[in-house]
Amino acid sequence: MMKVIIEKLVYGGKGLGRLDDKVCFVPYVLPSEEVEVRITKEKKSFMECEPVEVLKPSPDRVEPPCRYFTYCGGCDYLHIKYQKQVEIKNQIFTETLERLGKIKKIPLREPVPSKPDLHYRNRVQLKVKRDKIGFFKRESREVVNIDSCLLLKEELNYALEGLREVLPFFGFAPLEVHLHSSSEGQMTARFIFRKPIRRIPLGLKHMRAFLGEYLEGFGIYVREGAFPRRVSFVGSPFAYEVAGDYKFRVSADSFFQVNRFQVENLINMVEEIIRERQPSVVVDLYSGVGTFSIPAAKYAQKVYGVEINPYAVQDANHNRKINGVKNVTFNQSPASRVLEYTKKKNPELIIVDPPRGGLDEETIRAISSIENLKTIVYISCNPSTLARDISILGEKGFELQSTGIIDMFPHTYHIESLTLLEKLR
Ligand SMILES: C[S@@+](CC[C@H](N)C(=O)[O-])C[C@H]1O[C@@H](n2cnc3c(N)ncnc32)[C@H](O)[C@@H]1O
Repeated sequence: MMKVIIEKLVYGGKGLGRLDDKVCFVPYVLPSEEVEVRITKEKKSFMECEPVEVLKPSPDRVEPPCRYFTYCGGCDYLHIKYQKQVEIKNQIFTETLERLGKIKKIPLREPVPSKPDLHYRNRVQLKVKRDKIGFFKRESREVVNIDSCLLLKEELNYALEGLREVLPFFGFAPLEVHLHSSSEGQMTARFIFRKPIRRIPLGLKHMRAFLGEYLEGFGIYVREGAFPRRVSFVGSPFAYEVAGDYKFRVSADSFFQVNRFQVENLINMVEEIIRERQPSVVVDLYSGVGTFSIPAAKYAQKVYGVEINPYAVQDANHNRKINGVKNVTFNQSPASRVLEYTKKKNPELIIVDPPRGGLDEETIRAISSIENLKTIVYISCNPSTLARDISILGEKGFELQSTGIIDMFPHTYHIESLTLLEKLR
């Protein structure tokens, strides 16, 4: 056993300390804590450790309110006061931009914490192995069986309980079950299998008896590459979300922001930027079900949404109608083909909200060659790729105006942020 003093936490959730001048990473610790550790992996330049005992605890340490914590890989920060978690994320975010983005003076906005910070998730991807349902153990593919999760809204925990009774009806267990419970009290479920199943053992009525009255429908899916492919659907695949003045249909296969308490805040922040600038044309890349395109249409003459997922595009077109918006068009396409849509449209403002990989080279090239483009609103769920992209866009003449985190994922290491870039003239 060895003693380590934790210098800081790093992206990914672990603490960084030093053992014999070698960097070591320790999970479930806090800055300035003295911890007794066991080495679990030794590499040339660093070591992985696990904490055995916290010898000098930080005043920001709390008793984790979950009995699965450290065993289940879902949460990283349940041992830290929520306010301190936000402070730590803010610091990691800033350091990542400085180090990877080579940004010297960061115009940082105040972070936006989640209120409340528990039971915020409106969707969950549950892993299944034989009779176990839950999440992967930390850094493992072993499933931790859980009764309920503090991050999930109550309806999802209720459905999780019912799933235990549902799964034996299927001939063999699915790999995963995805549940979405909307702000309007509707739920959809996706059962993802390795191979197609011959027969669906339960109808909607019986499935509702187990998962809850509010179940709109459930689908059978087959895993193909990274994405599940829908094979069949029983009942309706649609649930409706309301955020502020807007209503969104979100089908079982579309993305929607995970934290039900933060969606409206994020929309308001994007809306404010567009209201201040009143651009004539806006392009919303990675537009999903129209979460930002539809609010943007209030202040722009014309908005174009670009989204690769056909289900999300169908939802977005429906959402355009139910929100009474006429000046938005949605295109089903990869973002990299953005120039095809924008060459003639020439937007002054672009919103981008890419997956964790950030913007690819082709998309950045296409964005930076738009003649009229003045403003980029970049919503990111990965500070490392954001830092890289800010740096590349900086070389193309877009200057960082403001950036800051909006905590979408309390108790986990994940960092969501909103960044504003403007073209230097
Ligand atoms: C983080 S979500 C954001 C969605 C939306 N802006 C929202 O806030 O609800 C990313 C979206 O990008 C879409 N997407 C992923 N890769 C894409 C690509 N290469 N081109 C266009 N859209 C893509 C996904 O289907 C998903 O809807």
